[in-house]
Amino acid sequence: MQWATTTLAFYGLGATALATSMLTLGRRLELSQAKHRSIAGHARMARRLAGFVPFYDYDEGRFFDSDGAPADVAALRRAGFFRLSELYQARFAETIHCTAEAAETISDLQFTGAYRVPFQYRRMVRAHLPLGAFLQSSDGVMVTDLDGNRFYDLTGSYGVNVFGCDFYKGTIERGAARVHALGPVLGAYHPLIIENTKRIREISGLDEVSFHMSGTEAVMQAVRLARYHTRRSHLVRFCGAYHGWWGDVQPGIGNPQPAHETYTLAEMSEETLHVLRTRRDIACVLVNPEQGLHPNAPAPTDSSLLDSTRSSHFDKAAYTDWLKRLRAVCSERDIVLIFDEVFVGFRLAPGGAQEYFGVRADLVTYGKTIGGGLPIGVVCGRKDLMKRFRDDRPADICFARGTFNAHPYVMAAMNEFLRQFQTPELQALYHNLDAVWDGRARRLNRRLADEGLPVQVANMSALFVVCYTQPSRYNWMLQYYLRAQGLALSWVGTARMIFSLNYTDADFDIVADRFVAAAKAMAEDGWWWHDPAMTNKTIKRAIMKEMIAHRLLSSRKH
Ligand SMILES: Cc1ncc(COP(=O)(O)O)c(C=O)c1O
Repeated sequence: MQWATTTLAFYGLGATALATSMLTLGRRLELSQAKHRSIAGHARMARRLAGFVPFYDYDEGRFFDSDGAPADVAALRRAGFFRLSELYQARFAETIHCTAEAAETISDLQFTGAYRVPFQYRRMVRAHLPLGAFLQSSDGVMVTDLDGNRFYDLTGSYGVNVFGCDFYKGTIERGAARVHALGPVLGAYHPLIIENTKRIREISGLDEVSFHMSGTEAVMQAVRLARYHTRRSHLVRFCGAYHGWWGDVQPGIGNPQPAHETYTLAEMSEETLHVLRTRRDIACVLVNPEQGLHPNAPAPTDSSLLDSTRSSHFDKAAYTDWLKRLRAVCSERDIVLIFDEVFVGFRLAPGGAQEYFGVRADLVTYGKTIGGGLPIGVVCGRKDLMKRFRDDRPADICFARGTFNAHPYVMAAMNEFLRQFQTPELQALYHNLDAVWDGRARRLNRRLADEGLPVQVANMSALFVVCYTQPSRYNWMLQYYLRAQGLALSWVGTARMIFSLNYTDADFDIVADRFVAAAKAMAEDGWWWHDPAMTNKTIKRAIMKEMIAHRLLSSRKH
């Protein structure tokens, strides 16, 4: 009898263990189904694969005909390339000289200098088309380099510049004057922080505010708070979304360590909603609303522009619907919904992405422009989520401090920013903002199409991404033609053009003229020669073959 009971107990235990493992397996399967199919959707695999990509590059001959272009086309390209090179050396001499000197010792410059074009083409480009990283002044929508060349600024200072450089010169100058008497005394606050807090609460519709030194830090703190209050371990970020360079939000390429408590899931996906609905370890979901322009794809750069598959298209209605459904699931499961508005806050609508999409978050991070031109990160949130200690457990705290948090000069520039931002004149800028920028993008696209150029832009308000409509290996060359036309781009090249909102129609039309002229020059120089048999797939396959061959070669050597 006893034997029978023991056997039954064993079977019972076995069945429970089996059921548990089946459940765990099922949950794992659901998690994999909620990943985006692309490599960016598989952070761990991406990191592993990155380690296998061998370095190789094209010699001078192959540089011009890597797509199998005939000799006459390659010659055309070569002539165009060296003409551009001469123009750069003559026109940007001092700026280039200074950059070369600085690059010896500024590691960031070495990095950005190396990642402007696909690595196979890097050596030739760096030798003959060096770019300047120095400017001496800015005014209106223009910047001036050390040689006195004036460029239309399409860099947007990484997104900080929403209202034009002169605006921020004013906020910094007036702000500095207002806190001069206190100076850089830290720890104690300058009284204008009270008004900042009040204004940010009004804008965000949330209860409390904390100040940090960068957008990355603001995101770190928002996630830490979510983990603290939910007592759950994992954060969900969406495939491709950028949230700064903290390890937990950058689990893939770029981070030498795996991020064990991050799930990278697909955006706009039923499977993702199912995972959120059923798992019990998810503390928060991080949304970067900029992804509306390219859901599930990483922020584009020209360094990966090896073919023409880059695609961007902003469907506001579809993205709004997704955010609403996400909001509902997060509420249902007590998951903290964090909007990371470091980049798009203050760009889309007076109340930021929350207002623009009509969806309220539990925590919001701001940064960049809200500092009035100085370094900043801000977290706003519901009172219960912002609290960093427990009344009943004094040793259980959520620590977050920072030497320069709430620096008087930053708070003062922010104060000037917020005051002006809330004036009727600046608020009026947001009336018809999308219609204005959609119209401008449409006009540019029509001109490009009329000229038969294989280039189009996609936009989310004043954020533009350049896309290419016919398979080509050389799209990244466009950034060099654009610079020759006096258009300043950031190191990601044509992947992103950030317009400040003080661009008038007349300014934009000049940019459009120059953009079209640059694309025409590039076409005339043969870079967009196109073999009808060439597709994006054949380009990818050819590159994959090159990589495998070089990989085999290098492993044979070792
Ligand atoms: C959405 C988003 N979050 C966070 C960050 C990081 O901000 P910071 O560069 O100030 O650390 C960025 C920066 O580009 C961003 O775009």
